[in-house]
Amino acid sequence: MTHILVTGGAGFIGSHLVDSLLRDGHGITVLDNFDAFYDRAAKERNIEGHRGRSNWRLVEGDLRDLPALRQQLAGPFDVIAHLAAKAGVRPSIEDPLGSRFTSSRA
Ligand SMILES: NC(=O)c1ccc[n+]([C@@H]2O[C@H](COP(=O)([O-])OP(=O)(O)OC[C@H]3O[C@@H](n4cnc5c(N)ncnc54)[C@H](O)[C@@H]3O)[C@@H](O)[C@H]2O)c1
Repeated sequence: MTHILVTGGAGFIGSHLVDSLLRDGHGITVLDNFDAFYDRAAKERNIEGHRGRSNWRLVEGDLRDLPALRQQLAGPFDVIAHLAAKAGVRPSIEDPLGSRFTSSRA
């Protein structure tokens, strides 16, 4: 089984990719921080068909939080599909790194 890490796997594009990868029988770990830019309920709907699948795991975390990721992400992964992103062009330009971010382990 191929193990694939999908960042942003609760988002629009990422969750559709996960739909397809699960259909093909891959093992999926999703990393998503349920960024507040748009409603969490929409992302929960995106992943409701994934929850409970034995080959799907959700790590709720922030890809900028390296110390936490080292603890939470149990690889190895064969492939990383990086689809986590700040939604919206203008907010990404105004605050590309997310100035309010601080590591949970700092
Ligand atoms: N939606 C489109 O039509 C479209 C078209 C072309 C390209 N894209 C690209 O695809 C990518 C994903 O877009 P989308 O439409 O799925 O956006 P989306 O906002 O629906 O999904 C992004 C996901 O990333 C998560 N996320 C954001 N910051 C994070 C962080 N720091 N750590 C962990 N998770 C984080 C969010 O919670 C969200 O679930 C983007 O790079 C976008 O530019 C999207």
